[in-house]
Amino acid sequence: MAKNSQYKILVADDEPAITEGLSELLKEEGYKTTKVYDGTEAWELVENQPFNLVLVDLMIPGMNGLEILDEIKKKDLLTEVIIITGKGTISTAVEAMKAGAYDYLTKPVQPNRLRTIIPRALERQDLVMTNKKLEETIKSMSRYEDMIGQHEKMRQVYRLVDSVADTTANVLITGESGTGKELVARAIHNKSSRADGPFIAVNCTAFPRDILENELFGHEKGAFTGAVSEKAGCFEMANGGTLFLDEIGEMPADTQAKLLRALEEKRFRRLGGTQEIVVDVRVIAATNRNIKKALADGALREDLYYRLSVMEIDLPPLRERMSDLIPLLNEFLSIFNERNTKDVKGFAPECLDALRKYDWPGNVRELKNVVERAVILSTGDTIELKHLPKLTAAPNLKQTTDAEAVSVGKTLHDIEKEVIFKTLKMTKNNKTKAAKILGISLKTMHNKLNKYYLERELEEES
Ligand SMILES: Nc1ncnc2c1ncn2[C@@H]1O[C@H](COP(=O)(O)OP(=O)(O)OP(=O)(O)O)[C@@H](O)[C@H]1O
Ligand SMILES: [Mg+2]
Repeated sequence: MAKNSQYKILVADDEPAITEGLSELLKEEGYKTTKVYDGTEAWELVENQPFNLVLVDLMIPGMNGLEILDEIKKKDLLTEVIIITGKGTISTAVEAMKAGAYDYLTKPVQPNRLRTIIPRALERQDLVMTNKKLEETIKSMSRYEDMIGQHEKMRQVYRLVDSVADTTANVLITGESGTGKELVARAIHNKSSRADGPFIAVNCTAFPRDILENELFGHEKGAFTGAVSEKAGCFEMANGGTLFLDEIGEMPADTQAKLLRALEEKRFRRLGGTQEIVVDVRVIAATNRNIKKALADGALREDLYYRLSVMEIDLPPLRERMSDLIPLLNEFLSIFNERNTKDVKGFAPECLDALRKYDWPGNVRELKNVVERAVILSTGDTIELKHLPKLTAAPNLKQTTDAEAVSVGKTLHDIEKEVIFKTLKMTKNNKTKAAKILGISLKTMHNKLNKYYLERELEEES
């Protein structure tokens, strides 16, 4: 009841008996009510005062109920509308609902119906208001947790993080390398009720299979040669918090099966252990692979994918949100100014131009590295072109969408370089895979890359 007094309701009907009766009933329920007997006056009140709800007679003189509803929707006002109607006009009232009215009441109004319908309409109003407020705060923000960017694609990401944070759902984050997947995982953790619990990150590519399983599940003393004491795995360490599994697509298949079991049963055994350990862990996984392909290749088990991807968040590559370039540059400039006790103020115009034209295959991470290097190299107030690496060094793929297109008129050396960079891009910088595709050894790949980087440095120095 006390809560009801925060709601303002307008009752508009030209029949005084109805208006009085309704507003008496509403007052008894504790709502703040205003009475009016004319449609035009009703609209003026709604337009100028924040009513939560208006009960309006369909046939009221002046502006009628439908016209008022129409104006409310046109002006994007958040006031909910309930139409009051006589027996003969129910079909019109149904029309009004299609036009956005919450519901209708037929005369004579049944007090019980009124008592059920009003709280529901107000509940919807609360929800709409909260969403709108959230929308507005997100819109005005260029920073969300540690993430910079207000491109619509990033806002969508923030909205998803907000809605999923405080649930128990596992989350799968996809996106190219360097797009900020780990930042998103941390944001989800920080916004969840687990924020005070641990955030444990495991990179699945960093370990060979046996060691990865040992990392995840731990072991008992004597589980294998060298297991001189027991060791808790990341699952145990993340108890009450979040376990972030990076590069899940690189996890060996049988480890994936074990992980799935642990997720489904919320319990597991340490290596060499007999006792089941029960944990309360939220798992967030990430991959820079194309999910469809990873599933088709069998790199990611389908059952595990469904278990992990209750909620999927896909991060846009930097080249698809270039309006965020400047805010990102400013952020990194201040980070690296501080770290290097420098006071670089900004970027020369031709420098910005080069940064804008580049397609950033390494995304935000690459941009961050470029700014760090430039801040270190710069001696004056501004970062100049000479402080940037040669940003066209990776072939500009915008010109040739056909991956196999070879430009005639280039030296064999340049063509080889181009093909190597394109293949690296295709494999998302996975050198092992790129070498396999190109039919060269990993060592040759490294040698060639070192040679190209060396050439680039020499070109820059000359
Ligand atoms: N929106 C952003 N705002 C500020 N910094 C960002 C943003 N996105 C990424 N970064 C920075 O870029 C770097 C890479 O981010 P992160 O490690 O989260 O990427 P990732 O998607 O996990 O990459 P990978 O697939 O290679 O692991 C980090 O230093 C991070 O702080
Ligand atoms: Mg990562």
